[in-house]
Amino acid sequence: MNHPLRTVVTALALSLPCLPALGEASGPLKTFQPPLTPELKARLKQADPAAGARFFERKCSQCHDGEKTGAHAKGPLLWNVFGRRAGTIAGFAFSPAMQAAGVVWDFATLDYYLADTERAVPGRAMDFAGITDPALRAAVVLYLSRLNDSPPPLP
Ligand code: HEC
Repeated sequence: MNHPLRTVVTALALSLPCLPALGEASGPLKTFQPPLTPELKARLKQADPAAGARFFERKCSQCHDGEKTGAHAKGPLLWNVFGRRAGTIAGFAFSPAMQAAGVVWDFATLDYYLADTERAVPGRAMDFAGITDPALRAAVVLYLSRLNDSPPPLP
């Protein structure tokens, strides 16, 4: 049979195994690259870095230093975290999970990590579940982007 319909049916059958993968919007960062969506870009544009700074002070600074001249504490120093590969800054003993995460921290990966840290890096040693409020999370991510020798522009 050389009917055009056959081509269509074959193409459909071939693409079917990929469908669940296309529908998947989560998973560990080791296997899932979170996209920089228009939704995230809009959220970052609206984000208030001062609110991010306040949240960081209240919830992150007990474990993390964000100063250029800062040091590792319970968590690694977060100066220059943007652009860095996860689990690689020298002088901090990361969990094997974070070392194997393989991800480079940027707007999309940090937003995803901070939404649900255990989903993003199963077995991570950071005792902080996540920031469920998307607006607040964007504010924290924007604040983190400024803790940098050359802060990246908004995407
Ligand atoms: C109770 C302590 C604790 C709190 C609170 C905490 N962290 Fe962490 N954080 C850690 C530890 C420990 C690690 C290393 C995790 C590992 O090795 O699995 C880490 C890792 C990270 C990393 C990855 C750094 C790298 O170089 O790969 C980022 C980014 C981060 N934390 C951001 C935050 C932010 C933002 C907050 C606040 C919203 C926060 N953390 C709250 C302890 C903490």
